Amino acid sequence: MRIERSESVAISPFAGNTSPVRNGGVFITFEGIEGCGKSTQAARLAAHLKNTSGREVVTTREPGGTDATKQIRALLADPKADWNPRAELLLFLADRTEHVARVIGPALDRGAIVLCDRYADSTTAYQGYGRGHDLERLHELNAWASLSTVPDLTLWIDCDIATGVQRAAKLTGGPGDRFEKEPLDFHRKVHNGFKQLAAEHPDRIVRIDGNADIDAVSAAIRTAVEAKLAELS
Ligand code: TYD
Repeated sequence: MRIERSESVAISPFAGNTSPVRNGGVFITFEGIEGCGKSTQAARLAAHLKNTSGREVVTTREPGGTDATKQIRALLADPKADWNPRAELLLFLADRTEHVARVIGPALDRGAIVLCDRYADSTTAYQGYGRGHDLERLHELNAWASLSTVPDLTLWIDCDIATGVQRAAKLTGGPGDRFEKEPLDFHRKVHNGFKQLAAEHPDRIVRIDGNADIDAVSAAIRTAVEAKLAELS
């Protein structure tokens, strides 16, 4: 979806109230359960696009994609924090608004290809399907918090739930830790969330088989991205 911006993201309290103009910018997000390998794949795709596309490529992630929101990431990661589910949701949304207003939006305005490790679908999958927040309300909040900035392409790296959770348990130091501690049933719900989202948005979300070997996953991602770039050009 492309909505023309009528005012710039500037100093007013309503700054960032409109979505990026884009100027040919392309917004690609990576989604999936813990340990599905999306961060590795995002880095691989970034290197490939930097070599081949001749365009500016911006890599970023949520939560914590701006200097200021690294503190939100730390708040979410704090193992001592037992966030009320609404407060947790609002922290993720605050993180997103800053991220779109200061990083994603300006990069799209410059015409860059933006690769983002997690975005609004994670909110729907984790806070909606996982935590049980009302999905319609989340849909509205997501649109509002993201300044109606919708990815052109979402790569859902779909991997086996137990494998992903086990793989993620080896990594430490992020908000993921709080989710990694959740029972397998939580991750099943999150996985189901991504599956439902993919069924609802077949033009935007491409399922990538994350159980395949790492090079095969990268190749499938490149094919999906090249098709989308060709479609948008
Ligand atoms: P991170 O350490 O970056 O994990 P990962 O490598 O799996 O992305 O932590 C991000 C965690 O935050 C992850 O468990 C998913 C969760 N999350 C939400 O619950 N809602 C959201 O909107 C986002 C962006 C992330």
